[in-house]
Amino acid sequence: ALVSLRQLLDHAAENGYGLPAFNVNNMEQVKAIMEAAQATNSPVILQGSAGARKYAGEAFLRHLILAALEAYPDIPVCMHQDHGTSPAVCARAIQSGFSSVMMDGSLKDDGKTPSDWDYNVNTTLAVVKIAHSCGVSVEGELGCLGSLETGQAGEEDGVGAEGTLDHSQLLTDPDEAAAFVKQTQVDALAIAIGTSHGAYKFTKKPTGAVLRIDRIKEIHARIPTTHLVMHGSSSVPQDWLEIINNYGGDMGSTYGVPVEEIVEGIKHGVRKVNIDTDLRMASTGSIRKFLAEHRKEFDPRKYYKVAQDAMVGICKARYEAFGAAGQA
Ligand code: G3H
Ligand code: 13P
Ligand code: NA
Ligand code: ZN
Repeated sequence: ALVSLRQLLDHAAENGYGLPAFNVNNMEQVKAIMEAAQATNSPVILQGSAGARKYAGEAFLRHLILAALEAYPDIPVCMHQDHGTSPAVCARAIQSGFSSVMMDGSLKDDGKTPSDWDYNVNTTLAVVKIAHSCGVSVEGELGCLGSLETGQAGEEDGVGAEGTLDHSQLLTDPDEAAAFVKQTQVDALAIAIGTSHGAYKFTKKPTGAVLRIDRIKEIHARIPTTHLVMHGSSSVPQDWLEIINNYGGDMGSTYGVPVEEIVEGIKHGVRKVNIDTDLRMASTGSIRKFLAEHRKEFDPRKYYKVAQDAMVGICKARYEAFGAAGQA
């Protein structure tokens, strides 16, 4: 059944777990997530970005999610617009049936230039007014994602600020978070606490804490009923990285956010954990390996199936680690 983000995350908060929010672009991703959710009895957040809409087209993206609802009637599913760049984009998503939208007013409507306080509050508030009158939830964002080490935003061509960010923008301020929530009434707030988008988060294997758990605690204490969202939460699985690099790929050496640290974040108030890169890597690695080992094979269903199975493995592991298993 289609449910709002508020419904899912209120339940997660009451029961002390976190939910992965997986990005979807195609049928295999949607099926993998639903199969893993069914196997572990987990609630689901399926999120579509502007890039997904560009790739699949609005109608295909919507119907893929509607197909998931029809095929798995017993699993609660939230249909979420990821990184809406303007109130118009969010309004369009609501019109097309999404039960939750993200207004990412931390960036201007080019999706790259960091905005100012008034812009963020005004665009987010405009979306909250429309969304809440339709029973749709809203996620806002305060702070800009980027590496605390280098100030770089991460992905070159994806979602996020461009270039080098000021250190103060890279960590969400707890007082500002309280004021932002008071003014906008968002249901969920994406915060900057040390993560960045894409596969190239950390150049060295994380030994200590990469997440600023102290900051998560401070923010959670100030806005206890607003659900904290962590973007850029892929763990960059080293087994899939090795397969990609061993079967013709060249991703080099790179690290993501350790699953144990995400679990620690969940203990302190993180409820929605955005993951895209990990599923991309499982797809690419499994397809590279399959094609290298089956050189006569030309039926795409064969390698799409191995990609789907590889993604199921990641999704199940995250549902279990985050405590979502058994909560559907
Ligand atoms: O936050 C970014 C997501 O990974 C979506 O990426 O814009 O390439 O679809 P995308
Ligand atoms: P990753 O690139 O770490 O998977 O993050 C995805 C994300 O935050 C989508 O909004
Ligand atoms: Na989002
Ligand atoms: Zn994101």
